[in-house]
This record gives sequence, structure tokens and C-alpha cells, in this order.
Amino acid sequence: PVLKELVGLSNLEEKIRRFYGLQKVVVVPGNCEESPLSKRELGKAGAKALLGVMHGGDVVAVTGGTTLAEMAEQLTYPLNGPLKGSWFVPARGGLGESLEIQANTIASNMAKRVGADYRLLHVPDLLSREAYESLVHDPNIQEIVREIRTARIIVHGIGNAVDMARRRKLDEETTSGLQEKGAVAESFGYYFDESGNVVHNMLTLGLRLDDIKAADVVLGIAGGKSKAKAIHAVLRFGQEDILVIDEAAALEIVRDL
Ligand code: G3H
Repeated sequence: PVLKELVGLSNLEEKIRRFYGLQKVVVVPGNCEESPLSKRELGKAGAKALLGVMHGGDVVAVTGGTTLAEMAEQLTYPLNGPLKGSWFVPARGGLGESLEIQANTIASNMAKRVGADYRLLHVPDLLSREAYESLVHDPNIQEIVREIRTARIIVHGIGNAVDMARRRKLDEETTSGLQEKGAVAESFGYYFDESGNVVHNMLTLGLRLDDIKAADVVLGIAGGKSKAKAIHAVLRFGQEDILVIDEAAALEIVRDL
């Protein structure tokens, strides 16, 4: 039965990989929304996939979220020594997450776990246009933003648009605006509709869409049946290379292929 299960999972991986033309898809057993153990496995698989593509001198930009936090937790010290000369940076500035799951926290935790360096981007949440304009011209911020924008690898979570809007305490007007525009997914602070078009962008600093397009490796990680629609949308955006998901999400995704 174990072998059968593994064959089942690799069939799912291959179907999704082919349909979206991805480099690699990893499906872990179970449902993250129901089991912390599955979430741990998802984090572990994400950590393994990241170490598989990283080498010295890399800049890795990471987003926030509980899935990325679990992935950081599961990163283990590389067998062939620390990843010296590599940098972990947050993909974008403040998005309204609590400290434990902010991109800055994830970047520093991941770096410490693999012996790499990190740099943080301190941009307050819910920036006003005026605050944004002045931060954009700050030389220290400009320097770190420049580095973030050169990221060779981007690691990101994927969320449901409305769930993320609530978690980040967006005001009612913005949230209902998102719904009107058909937003189903959120990732990197960008909101996407079902076809993968960006319909809203959080006002912050860091990675831009062009940088995501220019990166060598974009690694998305997410789990749970309820995220299937959001994952489809981000895959239709078309920049993903590696996708790490759980079985519950995978089963739901292949139903729509
Ligand atoms: O952008 C999406 C979110 O960061 C996903 O958050 O991993 O806590 O579901 P989560």
C-alpha cells in the first residue's frame, strides 16, 4: 500500500508538472489544513527542494506566511558545509503579518539554519503614498531593495485572496474591491484573478513583477484543499518553476485540468 500511495503521488506530480510546464512538482501525503504533521512534511519537502537548487553566492528572496515559517523550521544544515556568501532577503516589505511569519523573520531564520547571511528590509505596514515616496528615496533602503531585486531564487507562499486580505487587516473597501476584481490568490503582496492577472498590488517596496520574471528559480509552496484555486491562479501567472504542495491541494488541482 505504501508503494501504491507513492505511485499515486508521483502521478499527481507528473500531471500537474506537464499541464503547467513546470520544472518540478513535489506532492507530500495528506492535508496540511487538517494535520500539523502534513504541514511539517510540506515544509521539509520545500526545504529539500530549495537546498537542491541553491549554491554559494545566491540571493534568495522569501515571502512570509505560516508555510514559509514551517519550511524555515525544517531547513537543515547542508551536509557539504555552510552556504557562505549566500544571502537571504525578504521578498517585499511590510505586508501586515505578525512578527513570527513576516518575511524578515523567515529570511533571518533560514539564513541562520544553513550558515548563510541575511539582510532585512524595514518598511512599515500600511504605507501611505507620502511615506512610500520618501522611503523610496532613502539611500539605505534603496541599497537593500537593489539587492532584493537581483534575487536568483524566489521562495513564496500562496494564499486565498480574501483570507489574506483579512489576515493583513486590509480595510473593507479594499477587500470588497478585490472581490469585485475577481481576486482569488495572493502571493508576494500581489493579488491575482483566476486567469493569473494581477488585479491589486500592496503598496510596499522590494521585488517587482519584472524581477519575478527575471529570477532563475521561482519556488512556490502551499497546502490544503482550499488553496487549489489560488494555486491554479498563480500557476497561470506563469512564472513558477518548482511547486511543492500537499496531496489535498493536488487532488483538487487535477480535477480542473
Ligand atoms: O502569500 C501567501 C501567504 O503568505 C500564505 O500564508 O502559508 O500562512 O497560508 P500561509
